[in-house]
Amino acid sequence: MKSLKVPMTVDEFELAEYPFGWKDEYCDGFAYYTPRDHGVLMKISVESRVVENSVEIKPASETTIEKLVKLFYESFVDSVEFCNLSKKRIKERAAENVEDYFEGRRGIPVSELSRIAVTPDNKQNLIGACLVSKYKYGYKNEIIFVSPAFQKRGVGTSLAANLLNELHEIGEKVLWSEHHICNIQSERWHKKFGFEEVTDIMTAKFRRNFYRHEVWRGEQLTITEKINELKSNLSKAETEVERLEAIEKDDFSAAWLRWKYDF
Ligand SMILES: CC(C)(COP(=O)(O)OP(=O)(O)OC[C@H]1O[C@@H](n2cnc3c(N)ncnc32)[C@H](O)[C@@H]1OP(=O)(O)O)[C@@H](O)C(=O)NCCC(=O)NCCS
Repeated sequence: MKSLKVPMTVDEFELAEYPFGWKDEYCDGFAYYTPRDHGVLMKISVESRVVENSVEIKPASETTIEKLVKLFYESFVDSVEFCNLSKKRIKERAAENVEDYFEGRRGIPVSELSRIAVTPDNKQNLIGACLVSKYKYGYKNEIIFVSPAFQKRGVGTSLAANLLNELHEIGEKVLWSEHHICNIQSERWHKKFGFEEVTDIMTAKFRRNFYRHEVWRGEQLTITEKINELKSNLSKAETEVERLEAIEKDDFSAAWLRWKYDF
């Protein structure tokens, strides 16, 4: 995908709506909207789950790096994570991401918990993967991806539910994950599965600024619909920023969730 480029005047730009998490810029008669590169940490309590696997779940050791890279590329080629990159560069980034995982640059890779999904009729047909890492703060669903042809059919849910059950068996209490701030597909999936956001100060400020703009826009354009909901969201977002700013004064790393990189 590419940044959105929309012709408009400066006045229109100031009053325009833009998606949460995106950077909005104006130049020579065009508004440009680009996804910011920011990860939002997510967390879920580990409890056992009844899973009805629609596909077959197997250890990740039963596939190859080449197949994982190919599936990563297919799953992420149109995603916000790789906005404005050429297909050639996205292929390289797919290889780098999978390599970084196995080389231990994204936490300690945990092969005994990492899983793949294959179709029941053809066990060579890789359609999903969930690669797990270990950090100082616990296990993380490091990268999860499902072939576009099989998305929204419960594959991601099966992979993560199997992981939850495995963690439950070994007595873990929490599973961590992360989604790109602009990846709505991933955010919805995480929330539907039961993950909750662990807000860092950057995300909190993006959210506050977003609602500030939306409330201001609503007032300028006299859009009464949803204005009370927007004001209430703004108030919550401001409170969250104040809470994190108070933490930041004493402990910068805590407010920025810097510990999430430690392993
Ligand atoms: C995010 C992803 C792993 C989810 O796996 P999945 O097998 O498609 O999801 P499931 O079928 O288990 O769950 C479906 C739910 O996920 C969310 N979801 C999945 N695809 C979505 C889409 N295209 N748009 C919006 N929400 C979507 C919805 O909440 C959906 O529930 P709904 O059908 O009731 O709306 C998968 O869509 C994917 O690989 N996406 C591309 C790569 C990516 O973004 N990975 C996550 C990086 S953190």
